[in-house]
Amino acid sequence: MTPSASTTTPELVADLLARIEATTAKVGVIGLGYVGLPFAVEKGKVGFKVLGFDRSATRVDLVNQGKNFIGDVKDEELRALVSGGYIQATTDMDRLGEMDVLVIAVPTPLTKNLNPDLQYIEAVTREIAKRLRPGQLISLESTTYPGTTDDVMQPILESTGLKAGKDFFLAYSPERVDPGNARYTTKNTNKVVGASDAASRRVAVAFTARPS
Ligand SMILES: NC(=O)c1ccc[n+]([C@@H]2O[C@H](COP(=O)([O-])OP(=O)(O)OC[C@H]3O[C@@H](n4cnc5c(N)ncnc54)[C@H](O)[C@@H]3O)[C@@H](O)[C@H]2O)c1
Repeated sequence: MTPSASTTTPELVADLLARIEATTAKVGVIGLGYVGLPFAVEKGKVGFKVLGFDRSATRVDLVNQGKNFIGDVKDEELRALVSGGYIQATTDMDRLGEMDVLVIAVPTPLTKNLNPDLQYIEAVTREIAKRLRPGQLISLESTTYPGTTDDVMQPILESTGLKAGKDFFLAYSPERVDPGNARYTTKNTNKVVGASDAASRRVAVAFTARPS
């Protein structure tokens, strides 16, 4: 199915759930750092085709050459996933529109008032909004405060005329990984998934849990 503006919410949910189950959903990971690159590797290992987005051309080139720069990622795993076509990377934000699932893992450094600086999340959300299409799941994995998806991201995404929970899906699933921890890794660290509507929650939980 090619989702369009006339596709109903239950049809969009069923289509995305089927793609997640079959691992044919195209997964975009925005921010290829300590969180994003191991996440991309884990999803690639279970059969998803993952496209990593980063504003750093250096990081993108390294990934495309199968050259690892994150301690928690095994060099040979990344090489095999890149040469097998499971992981690619790009700086081309126009390709965000091709993705079925978009995972955001950009920095949220603390400001001098000790609040997370949301400028990177806001910048990425504006890039997504320019290419947003019906049926996409956007899952925020960066560390931030409750309300970031509803109060900051949703208005930017809905400025397109598309509605969260109806036309596209929006969720928060904060990354809890502890880089360098040999026992608890991206693969076996339990995650929490939240969304403000049932449809978004359903697809986000299915994506996070695939494969269970
Ligand atoms: N590293 C950790 O221990 C850890 C653990 C749990 C959660 N987190 C959270 O995960 C998030 C990511 O942290 P990290 O440590 O992976 O950061 P990082 O600095 O290692 O990587 C972030 C990546 O995002 C890219 N980026 C920044 N702005 C971008 C933009 N506008 N478009 C595309 N790419 C962009 C950067 O080039 C970089 O490659 C943060 O919110 C952090 O708090 C980090």
